[in-house]
Amino acid sequence: MSKTYNIAVIPGDGTGPEVVTEGIKVLNAVSGRYGFKLDFHNFDFGGERYLRTGEVLPDNATEELRKYDAIYLGAIGHPDVRPGILEKGILLRLRFELDQYINLRPVKLYPGVDCPLKGKDPEHIDFIVVRENTEGIYAGAGGVLKKGTPDEVAVQESINTRKGVERCIRYAFDYCAKRNRMNKLTLCGKTNVLTFAFDLWERAFYEVAKEYPGIKPDYAHVDAITMWFVKNPEWFDVIVTDNMFGDIITDLGAMIQGGMGIAAGGNINPEGVSMFEPIGGSAPKYKGKNVINPLAAICAGGMMLEHLGEEEAGKTVEKAVMEVTGKHIKSLAAGHMGLSTTGTGDLVAKIATEII
Ligand code: IPM
Ligand code: MN
Repeated sequence: MSKTYNIAVIPGDGTGPEVVTEGIKVLNAVSGRYGFKLDFHNFDFGGERYLRTGEVLPDNATEELRKYDAIYLGAIGHPDVRPGILEKGILLRLRFELDQYINLRPVKLYPGVDCPLKGKDPEHIDFIVVRENTEGIYAGAGGVLKKGTPDEVAVQESINTRKGVERCIRYAFDYCAKRNRMNKLTLCGKTNVLTFAFDLWERAFYEVAKEYPGIKPDYAHVDAITMWFVKNPEWFDVIVTDNMFGDIITDLGAMIQGGMGIAAGGNINPEGVSMFEPIGGSAPKYKGKNVINPLAAICAGGMMLEHLGEEEAGKTVEKAVMEVTGKHIKSLAAGHMGLSTTGTGDLVAKIATEII
């Protein structure tokens, strides 16, 4: 009997449903080939539901989602909903409540993709950021005093726990060893200023490093890292960092790999339910036009397969995407692809069933 994976799908807002549809098309195409099945179950969380019902996320949402093997997410963010409500109420809440303590974001320049960096080719840009996903400034600690008065005080604290930091660092070392590319793990921090938080990170990092003699531990300040991403991206293999720095440097990472049209990520709970998503937003202005690039969502689907243990199938999705970027798509930008959203999905699905 073939294996069946139960996947919760949150298409979400804007172009989310369109890109998720193409992702599912590709996943179904490869699953047939590799002899497993995917059962998709839709959840209508997002802006429309919130505007209709006033409820951001039902109380039993995480309990329900916990029953699935993985979650496949389109995009969250609606032009008629004040910024922050859906992002915090859905995306961040799910990451926290499902304890998806790793945000895994590959930065890889595929063949044929226009890179904004002069002289950089696919051989120069191939690294992955392991972003801590449940702590730091995102934990929501802090408060406000005398709001709206000239004496207003706003405090937003960064929470770093030994346990939270160490499990993230350990994941990064394991990942780096398994990846076996340059066997170099860079801690991205700010030890010269954040002398409490990154002192903890640095100590934990070098202590754990002793358990991985095959991995070269390396350190860079976050500001310097943004410089090296542009000047020498080939220096990086795996980077581990806190939630906020990870958020910022992965947007820069997305740009050097060709933009939001291709950038995918996974919110991972190695012991629980993980959630895969294109990093880009809901792009409401492209909604319903069949012009948005579905490749990021398709790549996120590939990452999901790898995570589920279907590594060959996941690699095939990536190879098919590389064929499309290398030979078929004009640009990764919405409306300039020379292909429609559905046409791109059809093409990846077709190649994924043929490619070796
Ligand atoms: C991301 C996004 C989110 C974040 C927002 C939408 C809350 O920017 O996934 O990187 O800051 O983590
Ligand atoms: Mn971000």
